[in-house]
Amino acid sequence: MAIAPPYRIALNGYGRIGRCVLRALYERGGSAGLSVVALNDLADMASVEYLTRFDSTHGRFPGEVSVSDGCLHIDGDCVQVLRQATPEGVDWRALGIDLVLECSGAYHSRSDAQRFIDAGAPRVLFSQPMASEADIDATIVYGVNQSSLSGSEKLVSNASCTTNCGVPLLKLLHESVGLEYVSITTIHSAMNDQPVLDAYHHEDLRRTRSAFNSVIPVSTGLARGIERLLPELTGRIQAKAVRVPTLNVSCLDITLQTSRDTNAQEINRVLREAAESGPLKGLLAYTELPHASCDFNHDPHSAIVDGSQTRVSGPRLVNLLAWFDNEWGFANRMLDVAEHFLRVAEPNTRKD
Ligand SMILES: NC(=O)c1ccc[n+]([C@@H]2O[C@H](COP(=O)([O-])OP(=O)(O)OC[C@H]3O[C@@H](n4cnc5c(N)ncnc54)[C@H](OP(=O)(O)O)[C@@H]3O)[C@@H](O)[C@H]2O)c1
Repeated sequence: MAIAPPYRIALNGYGRIGRCVLRALYERGGSAGLSVVALNDLADMASVEYLTRFDSTHGRFPGEVSVSDGCLHIDGDCVQVLRQATPEGVDWRALGIDLVLECSGAYHSRSDAQRFIDAGAPRVLFSQPMASEADIDATIVYGVNQSSLSGSEKLVSNASCTTNCGVPLLKLLHESVGLEYVSITTIHSAMNDQPVLDAYHHEDLRRTRSAFNSVIPVSTGLARGIERLLPELTGRIQAKAVRVPTLNVSCLDITLQTSRDTNAQEINRVLREAAESGPLKGLLAYTELPHASCDFNHDPHSAIVDGSQTRVSGPRLVNLLAWFDNEWGFANRMLDVAEHFLRVAEPNTRKD
């Protein structure tokens, strides 16, 4: 199960996304051509081993996991485990890595991001949208704009799980029926930035509330995130989000005003055909089966359109439902973007 390591990557932050990235790499059997050589988190070795082996959401790790000599051993591979709170605390150059996958979510500005480069990391892929476009060299939604990478970028964002779900659908529909206005509600599973029981949160009063007792409206940057990828829709998108008491899997409830008359059959045909062939095959899926969210746990797609829920009111008001595994789908896109990023990276910036 171990993969050949043409590209050496490190994970900074080994929480939900960091662990899913590592596991997805092994479950893909090396197809990504990436090798995790180090991970950095604040956690101790015993916890790193335990939470790699056992996962309440995705089940047991499907390979051999142990720790010794400062390494997390996975199927015989050594992933060096570091415990540094700052990018400067890690000697990225000595690790000989090609790319850091930043999965702590603790860095949002260009000056924050640059700290990794100054500390010797050749390039960084972030697991969240940065504060503004000026804070990053490129924001990539795989399947939509990865070919825009020139190879000279050092700091790239993998956008958000919701952007990865919504952008491919909106692009397809804008190119087919045209979009005048878009309104999106994200219905998102609980995350580790919410408490189990009521507790203080320094930014958001609603995030003080127990994750498992309420449907909780939270702020979202989804509209601005989509506009970064689809600037032709700037000023025409609004979004809101609620967290719901499930462990994983989320959906977008998308309302669209189209530029011309359409119907549910046409909308579903456009989305189904894109799922079946073309550049979004394997990233977008289509179903009309009577699913519930847990059916999509561990699903690697960025979006699964539920055609049974498509509604058209009058000739131009469309409502859609698209599922996504907010952890597993996104972790798989981190690997896709990482591999593409490294494949096109300028050779003279590659560490050998
Ligand atoms: N979960 C999702 O569905 C999802 C989907 C897409 C994108 N994302 C994004 O991915 C990022 C991580 O989210 P997550 O859900 O994986 O969060 P998480 O489960 O809280 O994981 C973050 C991990 O990073 C560690 N950490 C915190 N500060 C660190 C530092 N300075 N250096 C190294 N490690 C540090 C945390 O340790 P402590 O717990 O000790 O603080 C924790 O283990 C966020 O930006 C989030 O928006 C999440």
